[in-house]
Amino acid sequence: MPAPAPEIRVLPAAEAAVPTLLDELRRVVAANERPLVSFATGGTFTGMFTALARELRDGGIGRDFVATHLDEYVDFPPARAGGMVHELVTGCPPLGDMLAAGAFVPVPHVDDAAALAAHAQKLRELGGVKLQLLGIGRNGHIAFNEPGTAFDTGFHVATLAEATRQDARARFLPGEPPRRAVTSGIATILAADRLVLCAFGAAKADAVRGMLQGEVATGCPASALRRHGNLLVLLDREAARGFDAAADQASAAP
Ligand code: GLP
Repeated sequence: MPAPAPEIRVLPAAEAAVPTLLDELRRVVAANERPLVSFATGGTFTGMFTALARELRDGGIGRDFVATHLDEYVDFPPARAGGMVHELVTGCPPLGDMLAAGAFVPVPHVDDAAALAAHAQKLRELGGVKLQLLGIGRNGHIAFNEPGTAFDTGFHVATLAEATRQDARARFLPGEPPRRAVTSGIATILAADRLVLCAFGAAKADAVRGMLQGEVATGCPASALRRHGNLLVLLDREAARGFDAAADQASAAP
């Protein structure tokens, strides 16, 4: 049986996604005892983290959840600028408090199979990811699962595509962007109960079309998400440009 098709909402602008994302978080925290919530990084989520910091400070969203995230550059411990944990705790300081209190489980920054297996085990012990937020790379990557990555992968060390390194260049200037990262695998992502993917801006339009209406195949890692069955996709008009809503019937997974 095909998985239920993703729910797709086209928003007037990226900012309009923030209340929806906060509501998703509120709902998962209300419905579960200390759920594990996995965040994504990147410019797509900057506005959400600013709003989330406010909510966590004033109690609009309680801190009775455990945080984690998708991926980390190899050799980027939490305090190192440019890294994903550094980005998260800078963009949302209450996540820094949660990290200090052990309520934020960072992705290991080492190329060490035992450390990655222990991390995956820890996520399972915490009940598995209840809500996973996702961005998308303009080449269709999710987390750092680049085109060609098998759909059955767990946490692993990925070599970054050149386009991905170019997109990350600004955050590492005057140095070079890293070449390798530890990433959640596609199977890890598909194991979450609920997925919410955001894509904003014209640069994402081709990847969005590939994800929603291309072949479900490793050439577009995000196409794997159509096998999930509980996926919400939030787009702005530019990112939705290549997406043909009339042909959406074709978007269910084979
Ligand atoms: C990186 C991250 C992805 C993220 C992507 C898009 O490659 N590993 O998880 O989705 O960037 O980033 P942005 O939101 O800045 O476009």
